Amino acid sequence: MSEQAVAFDSATYRQTMGNFATGVVVVTGLVADQPIGFAAQSFVSLSLDPPLVAFSPAKSSSSWPKIRESGHFGINILGEDQRDVCVGMAQSGADKFANVQWQSGLTGAPKLQGVLAFIECSIEDEHDAGDHTIVVGRVQDCTRADSDSAPLLYFRSAYGSFV
Ligand SMILES: Cc1cc2nc3c(=O)[nH]c(=O)nc-3n(C[C@H](O)[C@H](O)[C@H](O)COP(=O)(O)O)c2cc1C
Repeated sequence: MSEQAVAFDSATYRQTMGNFATGVVVVTGLVADQPIGFAAQSFVSLSLDPPLVAFSPAKSSSSWPKIRESGHFGINILGEDQRDVCVGMAQSGADKFANVQWQSGLTGAPKLQGVLAFIECSIEDEHDAGDHTIVVGRVQDCTRADSDSAPLLYFRSAYGSFV
């Protein structure tokens, strides 16, 4: 596919895709008792029966290979007041949990304090997809959580909220 000529450049592609507004999650895992996580907007609910969700980690992600080892992951849906959490979780190599309160869920995956909802999954499958992979998770537990806040949204490279 990448060898075919296309009529647009990479910047145009990014800017075009940025018109799709999404919520933001933090994908978490517990590895050797250490919390691991990264921000993602590629989360999607896939199937009700069985309950399946998916998200797409970049192949360059340093966190996902560690989380994968644990066999489970958590999806933390962020509220509009958690922009700083998102920014921190989007910085590769940082001490991402230094200022974040969390507790382990059923599978061990970290649930961040103050999230709108928390979904815990076992890893069902992973599919190759260009410079990303598509991870399918089977939901093991889910809770509407601590906050009634509006969701944190991402649109055209900027954060916003639902009015
Ligand atoms: C709003 C937002 C959405 C993001 N969505 C994704 C995503 O869906 N998949 C992904 O791999 N990275 C996504 N990222 C980028 C990662 O959070 C970022 O590359 C992070 O540094 C990866 O950290 P790691 O190296 O610890 O895995 C997103 C970043 C932001 C700010």
